Amino acid sequence: MLARCYRPKLSVWAALCVLVLCWFYVFPVYRLPRDKDVVEEVLRQGEAWHKNQTGIDLYRKLLTDCCDPRRMFAVTKENSPVGKVLWYDGEFYHSHTVNNETYSLFVQDNPLQLPLKKCAVVGNGGILRHSKCGHHIDRADFIMRCNLPPLSKGFVEDVGTRTHLVTANPSIIEKRFQNLLWSRKSFVDSMKAYGSSYVYMPAFSMKPGTDLSLRAHYALADSSSNLTMLFANPEFLRTVGKFWKAHGVHGKRLSSGLFMVSLALGLCEEVAVYGFWPFSVDLEEKPISHHYYDNMPPYKGFHAMPEEFVQLWHLHKSGTLRMRVGRCPPQEGGS
Ligand SMILES: *[C@@H]1O[C@H](CO)[C@@H](O)[C@H](O)[C@H]1NC(C)=O
Ligand SMILES: *[C@@H]1O[C@H](CO)[C@@H](O)[C@H](O)[C@H]1NC(C)=O
Ligand SMILES: *[C@@H]1O[C@H](CO)[C@@H](O)[C@H](O)[C@H]1NC(C)=O
Repeated sequence: MLARCYRPKLSVWAALCVLVLCWFYVFPVYRLPRDKDVVEEVLRQGEAWHKNQTGIDLYRKLLTDCCDPRRMFAVTKENSPVGKVLWYDGEFYHSHTVNNETYSLFVQDNPLQLPLKKCAVVGNGGILRHSKCGHHIDRADFIMRCNLPPLSKGFVEDVGTRTHLVTANPSIIEKRFQNLLWSRKSFVDSMKAYGSSYVYMPAFSMKPGTDLSLRAHYALADSSSNLTMLFANPEFLRTVGKFWKAHGVHGKRLSSGLFMVSLALGLCEEVAVYGFWPFSVDLEEKPISHHYYDNMPPYKGFHAMPEEFVQLWHLHKSGTLRMRVGRCPPQEGGS
């Protein structure tokens, strides 16, 4: 009889242990604030914001010391001569040794006119929809966008039209343009939305991305496009990843958005960010879509969006950058 009582007890304990372990796995000890708490804090903070030159200078120095964005953000002839081994930052033990062919595709040196004054980094969050932030964004001196976002007429009012640098993940090109193995016309045509900006591709992050990025480069070059291809330097991506890991961002890989914010903090005199809001409701607790242009959820567990948001929010509160959430005030309201 005793034994009979024990058996269920044991399995109950085992089940409890498993539950606790799962709990710690899903909700690690560094618990993030709940979405509702974040929303409430953002609401409390409201429009109050003061630029903090000490914070701006501090982060520029921290990022320069760790990651040297000025020299390292792109693969250049200067930092990657023939024979240089580029270690993929998104894979273990894969590398590309720069050869004559790839070398000829690199820009000579950092092509950006430094220092950049006011920079805007535009994420793709659904919070941008109906934000009327287009004018605000377009007023910046240097505008960065992520992952070839649509800039068609319907979105202009909310996201603006100008672009100086746009990131392009190989996976997007794979999906949207059939790997560029067939006609490249639709790719070249859709890239016209970005005027004469830089296209920033992580060509040396994942093995399958390299050929695709080279094809994208050739497609642009062959069509005498006004865009300039820049390949992200895997060493820069790796050091920036480490920098944020030390600040408590634990995702497998940073989002393109946080890479761009890091670049902006390193190179710009002032940084404003838009469309970074990884929650499913807006400030009025109305549901919003994942992106301003669609409602496709991102891969689970790949990026640590709420963790990234908390970092950006700290930077906003300290006055190091300005984060826009929700509607931009009409006309005036910059600085
Ligand atoms: C300004 O930034 C510095 C460095 O991040 C920080 O220590 C300080 O508290 C900030 N000042 C204000 C008023 O937030
Ligand atoms: C690469 O180019 C250089 C200079 O143009 C040439 O001297 C060298 O032989 C080339 N190497 C290969 C492997 O083609
Ligand atoms: C490149 O820019 C020039 C001047 O702005 C413009 O006339 C031309 O049509 C552009 N070319 C392409 C392929 O977009």
